[in-house]
Amino acid sequence: MRNVKRETSSVRRRFAEIFGGEPGAVVRAPGRVNLIGEHTDYNDGYVLPVAIDRSVLVAAALRGDRQVVIHALDFGENTKFSLDDIRPDQAQTWSNYQRGVAYFLEERGIKLPGLNAVVVGDVPIGSGLSSSAAVEVSMAYTWQVLAGFEMSRVELALLCQRAENEFVGMNCGIMDQFVSALGQRDHALLIDCRSLDCQPIPLPPPLAPPKLGGTPPCPPKLGGTGGAAIVVADTMKRRGLVDSEYNTRRRECEEGVRILRRYLPEVQALRDVSVAQFKTQSSKLKAQNVRRRCRHIIYENERVLKSVAALRAGDLAAFGQLMNESHISLRDDYEVSCAELDIMAEAAWRVDGVYGSRMTGAGFGGCTVSLVAEEAIEDFRVRVAAAYEEATGIVPQIYICRAEDGVGEVSPR
Ligand code: GLA
Repeated sequence: MRNVKRETSSVRRRFAEIFGGEPGAVVRAPGRVNLIGEHTDYNDGYVLPVAIDRSVLVAAALRGDRQVVIHALDFGENTKFSLDDIRPDQAQTWSNYQRGVAYFLEERGIKLPGLNAVVVGDVPIGSGLSSSAAVEVSMAYTWQVLAGFEMSRVELALLCQRAENEFVGMNCGIMDQFVSALGQRDHALLIDCRSLDCQPIPLPPPLAPPKLGGTPPCPPKLGGTGGAAIVVADTMKRRGLVDSEYNTRRRECEEGVRILRRYLPEVQALRDVSVAQFKTQSSKLKAQNVRRRCRHIIYENERVLKSVAALRAGDLAAFGQLMNESHISLRDDYEVSCAELDIMAEAAWRVDGVYGSRMTGAGFGGCTVSLVAEEAIEDFRVRVAAAYEEATGIVPQIYICRAEDGVGEVSPR
């Protein structure tokens, strides 16, 4: 169980040791876990992420000049740059997230004050829980608090995404920055990645007891207390191929749009293609990879909307089934899973009390997310960890995540 108060006072203490004096602000921005809607964000589609209780903390104070000094506690390193000459740093690549944020805030015409900052985080890096979005959003918001400029949360998220796309060079969609900025405690966020409208969806305990029987993956047993938890299982495999494969998937989706538009002229993005339309037009997509990528996105968008309906109806069994289908589609059609993620998801599917389990994030490593009936959590920890370790020789990290608020100032002193 984490202790936010203790972490906050520890980051304050480190700030005082390194820079002297008290920080003017302490800001927290969360990582995220995506419940469903994978790779749909850059296709103008729907996603359903949750901001989690793993985050990046920044303690910072103004300096009175235009220098920025950041001490990253996790790396034991310092970086320093001038706001009058912001460039990427090839040696300390971790600092490019903060540099990129500063660059685009300045580009928007905001004259930033220099600052001293201490940064620390417990979002595991490269695990698919969006540590980079948490770094960007925490930095942008720190500046907003200390400099006091007007900017909506949505604008802030867009600016951070731009920093990642154009400064860091990772061509991500909007999901991670958006939920880190706008997440809500005890809710998932349904985001329409075209209009950027969002709706908080309460994460309720199951209203109807899950049904018995059915084909594997098994629905939960009857007789529980009714609560359910979001459980993240980290394969400990750090994403490798992700950047190049991510860009390839984006291109394949764009290729699909180009072809489908010949027959469906109103289509601007895969979001505009319904499942029914895909069924009648899919033969036009001759290249198998393009057809499969499109199939994943089009059905995944539908799964997100069905998932929201299931959550609203309290039907966690239906929700879990959609999570499982999403994993299978990411594995077979979108081809972004890997052996470790498949082993972890399949191990979860075999545990009674697991509603659903799937890879989360970009893929090629990182974590699975599972929805687990409260009374099955211990069983999940033991059995999934044992099965995974036996198959891979790697000890996974398994933890329960709480849905948290998006970025904010941590209550002072
Ligand atoms: C990464 C990106 C997101 C999204 C996911 C896949 O996390 O940063 O924008 O595309 O992959 O759903």
